[in-house]
Amino acid sequence: MTGKTTHFGFEEIDETEKAGRVRGVFGSVASRYDVMNDAMSLGIHRLWKDAMMDWLAPRPGSKLLDVAGGTGDIAFRFLKRAGHGHATVVDLTEDMLVEGRKRAEAEQMAQNLDWLVGDAMSLPFENNSFDVYTISFGIRNVTRPEKALSEAFRVLKPGGRLMVLEFSQIPNDLLQKAYDLYSFNVIPRLGQAIVGDRDSYQYLVESIRQFPDQETFLDMVRAAGFEQAKYRIISMGFACLYSGLIFLNMRVPHYILRLIRTGATLERTGAMRQIMDAMEAPRLVRGTLRVLAWPFQWLGYKGDTSMTPTVRALTALGPAYIKFGQIFSTRPDIVGTELATEMRILQDKLPPFSLDEAKQSLSQ
Ligand SMILES: C[S@@+](CC[C@H](N)C(=O)[O-])C[C@H]1O[C@@H](n2cnc3c(N)ncnc32)[C@H](O)[C@@H]1O
Repeated sequence: MTGKTTHFGFEEIDETEKAGRVRGVFGSVASRYDVMNDAMSLGIHRLWKDAMMDWLAPRPGSKLLDVAGGTGDIAFRFLKRAGHGHATVVDLTEDMLVEGRKRAEAEQMAQNLDWLVGDAMSLPFENNSFDVYTISFGIRNVTRPEKALSEAFRVLKPGGRLMVLEFSQIPNDLLQKAYDLYSFNVIPRLGQAIVGDRDSYQYLVESIRQFPDQETFLDMVRAAGFEQAKYRIISMGFACLYSGLIFLNMRVPHYILRLIRTGATLERTGAMRQIMDAMEAPRLVRGTLRVLAWPFQWLGYKGDTSMTPTVRALTALGPAYIKFGQIFSTRPDIVGTELATEMRILQDKLPPFSLDEAKQSLSQ
């Protein structure tokens, strides 16, 4: 027991239990996994996986690592598109890999494939080993997705590419309700009828609802060190593809770049001066920061000028910072009434969250 909890569907469990329970789910459904995938998505998962390949455009001779690769859907597609290349499939559940191996032999692709039992959070590979890292409908099952992304960054070569396919939150409320009705009522029953296992499919639909929205997950991709992080919504938001690149596989420059970007945004939105005043920063600190940030002033600010400088800066810096601002807006005791009132403007910018959640993340 670590004392840290995570979710397993809608259940809150100790972190150390999750991998075992996930393995239980996929071990139980492995032999009928592919049939069930077609049945519950009406075959649409194939189009999503094809869309992943369209965006990825595999190059001949490239080396793929497909994590949580299960029965090999992504690895097979990759090898077919690349013409020639190599794929390594890693999965927590051996039974899923056994099914994948049978398919590889049937499709005469076994010689270009390796199958390995392993955990996305601790990959058994050297740094800079692969050209492409994919994870399809796998990352929401991982106990700590940020750890899996950081491992992806480590094992990819400079110039490497990350691509994630996952279910997502549907932006249209009516469609989301219809989807919830279908997924919570039909999918577990289908699971019972086809696989003889209702609970595993109850977990699967619950885990989809627990996965973060597109912007939040994209921030996690960026935080792991990936550049040019982007997402593409597919099938009206039922699923989403995320892509990230590695220019130089070096973490330090990434964090330095992030620091520069934050400093530049604070300067060009006018927030730097406000923060320095609020912190009553010494003259030396103010002077140094002003000189460093001075060139960025000329980039100017093109956003909504009706907002105050601090709110402008947090909005320009993106969702993680907006959340930060939202949290501080609930804590006038820390940031002062004036700043907290300003930051309340941020409440409408992202889905709401409770005061308890805000206090909890602040105390963490
Ligand atoms: C829904 S299946 C996806 C299989 C395949 N990628 C696909 O798209 O059809 C999820 C897979 O993730 C695997 N998995 C879950 N957690 C994992 C982890 N921490 N490391 C590696 N694989 C994991 C499961 O064993 C399962 O095979």
